Amino acid sequence: MPATTPPSTAAPAFDPEAIRADFPALDQTVYDDAPLVYLDNAATSQKPQVVIDRMNAYYARENSNVHRGVHALSQGASEAYEQARETLARFIHAPDPDTVVWTKGTTDGLNLIASSFGPTVVDEGDEILLTEMEHHANIVPWQMLAERTGASIRVLPITDTGELRLDRLDDLLSEQTALVAISHVSNALGTVNPIDAIIDAAHAQGVPVVVDGAQSAPHRPVDVQAMDADFFVFSGHKMFGPTGIGVMYGKRKHLEAMPPYQGGGDMIDRVSFEGTTYDDIPHKFEAGTPNISGAIALGTAAEYILNVGRDEMHAYESDLLDYATRRLEAIEGLRLIGTAEEKTSVLSFVLDDVHPYDAGTFLDRLGIAVRTGNHCTEPLMDRLGLPGTIRASLAGYNTRADVDALVEGIRKTQDLFG
Ligand code: ALA
Repeated sequence: MPATTPPSTAAPAFDPEAIRADFPALDQTVYDDAPLVYLDNAATSQKPQVVIDRMNAYYARENSNVHRGVHALSQGASEAYEQARETLARFIHAPDPDTVVWTKGTTDGLNLIASSFGPTVVDEGDEILLTEMEHHANIVPWQMLAERTGASIRVLPITDTGELRLDRLDDLLSEQTALVAISHVSNALGTVNPIDAIIDAAHAQGVPVVVDGAQSAPHRPVDVQAMDADFFVFSGHKMFGPTGIGVMYGKRKHLEAMPPYQGGGDMIDRVSFEGTTYDDIPHKFEAGTPNISGAIALGTAAEYILNVGRDEMHAYESDLLDYATRRLEAIEGLRLIGTAEEKTSVLSFVLDDVHPYDAGTFLDRLGIAVRTGNHCTEPLMDRLGLPGTIRASLAGYNTRADVDALVEGIRKTQDLFG
């Protein structure tokens, strides 16, 4: 019998040019016909046409309130809204969609946990353990909780390369520790934190862990069950979805025990002036008319990433990060800030004799969009002794040509200011 080639079961190769073509905002020029080089994805990502179309279709034909009407449009909207919740549960491998609560984004999710779950576990004299590289959103809500309860904040330090000092973890995780809150990936350095080791160490002492996944969910596969996170929060707009929508995942046992965060319609079971009973999770945490179009379109964004292939996109971005790191390292007068062994998608750097704001402004005139400043991580910048950095952050639609344009732009910046 002649040998036959078995049908290929391999996923199609990741094609950044095809991905790029899905994002209309990338195909434009700014100022004097400078082609846009968008490298500010850690702040927010661009949106693929399918997400834009989904938003438009919702408002054009489907707009209606959810969980409230018996009419066709309301039923359709409710179904699409809950379907999106199922997609997001799949996206982070949550055990069931009821553990996925819609929020406005990462900051909203962290505030929800600090306000509702916080006081159930944090008492006077207790400690809340953070790290030196946290975003303000994963510092300030805990400070507010500490003020409210009489607890205090402890901080796990970092090394000069931007990695957590795990050797200090045993000291800092004490009998007083009531809660740990930590970013999965640093927005300012790109460091991927050893989240499993930290969660294991905290759980060994019975301490719950809140994970800020704002910078990890868009770039690498996330499995909240394998990670065993007590809470995992992220935003839609950094993962090709709309602004004003995000997810707070929590373990069922926590969500069921937590009091509601806000009161109002849709979160109740029965209301009377004598007292009110609340709906089950997740609705208990979703008072008022939610961001329906945002949730539905975030479902589309998550489907888009799953269809492209999350592992494939992650591998592509890692390769691009390696390429960009090598090219930036070769520039004299440039110092990379954050050189951890394991990183995702972020290149923070400073230039000799050029203030980050000047560099960012000049790069912008060349069409290169980066973020400059302290990246909402003032304590981290204080630790590093820097006023801020220039940050280029990658997404699956960026290419080596974008990195080359950045390198060229940096050289021109150095020529101008040097
Ligand atoms: N947290 C976002 C950033 O890192 C806004 O830019």
